[in-house]
Formats: sequence, C-alpha cells, structure tokens
Amino acid sequence: MSHSDTRLADMTLTEAIRARLSRLVVQQQNRERLREFGQHPSSKLLLVGPPGSGKTLTASALAGELHLPLFTVRLEGVITRFLGESAGKLRLIFNQIAQMRGVYLFDEFDAIGGKRGAANEVGEMRRVLNSFLQFLEEANATDSVVVAATNHPELLDRALVRRFDEIIEYGLPDASGIKAMMRHRLGRMAGRSLGWEKILPLTEGLSQAELARVADEATKEAILAGRKTVATDEILAALNARRAMREAVADIFNDR
Ligand SMILES: Nc1ncnc2c1ncn2[C@@H]1O[C@H](COP(=O)(O)OP(=O)(O)OP(=O)(O)O)[C@@H](O)[C@H]1O
Ligand SMILES: [Mg+2]
Repeated sequence: MSHSDTRLADMTLTEAIRARLSRLVVQQQNRERLREFGQHPSSKLLLVGPPGSGKTLTASALAGELHLPLFTVRLEGVITRFLGESAGKLRLIFNQIAQMRGVYLFDEFDAIGGKRGAANEVGEMRRVLNSFLQFLEEANATDSVVVAATNHPELLDRALVRRFDEIIEYGLPDASGIKAMMRHRLGRMAGRSLGWEKILPLTEGLSQAELARVADEATKEAILAGRKTVATDEILAALNARRAMREAVADIFNDR
C-alpha cells in the first residue's frame, strides 16, 4: 500500500486518454449521486501499451486524484503452483477490494490473463483466470478502482477483456507529446527556446520514461555546469547517450 501525490495534470497524455481518465475520476467523485439513480461509477480499467508509456503512473495518478490509497498487487506472490491456492489468495484480495476502498493495481496483468504457463501450470492458471473473471463480475459496493496493466494485450483472454469498463491504449508520444513531456520534465530548467528541429529527430521510438530520463540527465549536466537553463546541446548529448545505450543493451539481450 502506498500514498500518492501524483495528479493527471503531472502526466503527458493525449487529449483522448486524458478525457477518459478524467471521466472516470468525475464518476468516482460523484458516485453517491450516480447511486441514487441506480448507476455506478466506472471502476474497472485495463491499460495496455508499450513499456514506459505511463500505465503504472496512471494508477498512481488516479489514487492521487481520488485521495485513495494505492494497493499494488504482486501477482508473482499470488500465483503458485499449488492446486487451488492461487484462487484462494485472489479471493483474499477481492475481499479486501470489496471492504476497503482504494485503487488496486494488478501490474503485468498478462501473468493472470495470459494463456501462457508450463504444461503443469495450465490447469492452475485457468482456475486463476476463471476466479478473476468471477470476481470482476461481483458488485463492488465500495467502488474501489481496479486497474490492470499489461504490455502484452494479445496474450489476454477475450472473456477477461470484456469485463472492464474502460480499455485504454497507451502509445509512444508524437511530436507534440514529446515536446510536452520534455518541457514538463525540464520545468524551470527549460530554456526559452530549444532547438526542437534538432531534438525531435533523435527522439524517435523513445518512450515517455526514456524522455524523462533524457530530460533529467540534461538537467544535471546544466546544473553541474553552473547554468540556470538546459541548452539544446545538453539534450542532444543526453539523447545520443541514451540511443547508444539502447543499442548496446539490444546487443547484450539480442532483442528488438
Ligand atoms: N505519460 C507520461 N507522462 C509523464 N511521465 C511519464 C509518462 N509515462 C511515463 N512517464 C515517466 O516514466 C516513468 C515510468 O512510467 P510507468 O512506470 O508508468 O510506465 P509503464 O507504462 O507502467 O511501463 P511498463 O510497461 O514497463 O511497466 C514514470 O514514473 C514517469 O516518470
Ligand atoms: Mg508499469
């Protein structure tokens, strides 16, 4: 369990995603009024998209907006190889979801929703998946928010996907997203004019998380150079360093 001060305004999001998340927040804030009319607020959210695009951060921002505690469910602790044990543990979690209002994050959700697993685990995984489906169906009197996040939506069972109130797809940022992300992260250190025409071509394929790191590296360089704003060259140097590191890492792990 953790406490969050993050807000949606701290995040760089497309207008469409921001609007959908805001709508969920407004419904949650007005849940009593909705209930008077037999309605209930959106509370089950599936976030899909590439690494570093803000899925986990979104759960934190929702907790911050709603002033609710954030519970991160460690699925590796839930899923065991022992018959029936995983479903029992899941039951405990859903009991808590029903009793204590909060934002519950099931990160790396494909571990549950996936069709993966060694042959001897398949039976147990099926059981976990089925229990999860059932739990998601149950009325949630406390209006806890359940957020599931995954990089691998293609692994998810269709039946599971249907149970969510909202499915939101995150992506890598476009040019305006990249500028917004960098500006926001640089904060007061952002110079009046940055050479975007030189910066943007080097940002291709970088995630929001990687851009945040680039901005932080450039900021540190500027501070240590005794300057009050970040220069375009510092950003370019940080971008080049990040790209070089990416390639080295890709070689080591032989992926992408
Ligand atoms: N949309 C965003 N707006 C602002 N900052 C972001 C955004 N996305 C990522 N970041 C930055 O990158 C960090 C990592 O993002 P986050 O953990 O939310 O990514 P993720 O989508 O959950 O990735 P993964 O799939 O690897 O778990 C955040 O803590 C934040 O600093
Ligand atoms: Mg994450």
